Amino acid sequence: MSKVIGAHAVSVDGYITGRDPRAGRGLGDGTMLFDWYFDGDTPSRVFDGFRLSEPSARVFDALAARVGAVVAGRNTYEDSDGFGGGGPHPAARLFVLSHRPMPKMSERQTLVSTGIQDAIAAARAAAGGKDVGLMGGGVVTEALKAGLVDEVILHQVPILLGHGRPFFQPLPGHVRLRLVEAVPAPGVTHLRYEVER
Ligand SMILES: NC(=O)c1ccc[n+]([C@@H]2O[C@H](COP(=O)([O-])OP(=O)(O)OC[C@H]3O[C@@H](n4cnc5c(N)ncnc54)[C@H](OP(=O)(O)O)[C@@H]3O)[C@@H](O)[C@H]2O)c1
Repeated sequence: MSKVIGAHAVSVDGYITGRDPRAGRGLGDGTMLFDWYFDGDTPSRVFDGFRLSEPSARVFDALAARVGAVVAGRNTYEDSDGFGGGGPHPAARLFVLSHRPMPKMSERQTLVSTGIQDAIAAARAAAGGKDVGLMGGGVVTEALKAGLVDEVILHQVPILLGHGRPFFQPLPGHVRLRLVEAVPAPGVTHLRYEVER
């Protein structure tokens, strides 16, 4: 069975964006959350133009190779300007979760408005046996509430951003995690947790 994974670049105080993210402004002001994508000398084998440190490239490409479809929340989709009609991953089909109709989407993108279970089921069916990646704090929270997340991955950047969209949102109860991998790298520490069930 393919897995459901949520991998995000996150500040130590738990933010996944800077101040005032929105369409046309991406992640907003003052973030250094993605500097590690471009600070190294090892090209990604999956993402054109990314040059990471050697340990980050190893972790990042291994994760990217696992993903066959992505479920993104509407905020992620809109703040990313609809991913230019494509998606956040070069080889993965995109499913966008929203309660509302979406005016315009490309044929490579699918709106799901019937909830997180349906979005993950549709993504899994399109993933060709690979894993489903989640994008957005709201979507990860919804999937955790539904008991559908297998792994939470933090690319933890050593900064206190002080503001932005939080990765961690209220849950009805605690969720136990088991650390399965911790890889320190220049400008980021990669922490991979399995969700205990
Ligand atoms: N740092 C990183 O690695 C990283 C990764 C991904 C995203 N981001 C950034 O994070 C920000 C978005 O995160 P976010 O937490 O604000 O939002 P999000 O998870 O992207 O989207 C939340 C929205 O998704 C829809 N939604 C959520 N659960 C739903 C459900 N069960 N049924 C139907 N619709 C549902 C709702 O939209 P409606 O109510 O409007 O329908 C909700 O407001 C963006 O700025 C993005 O660029 C950062």
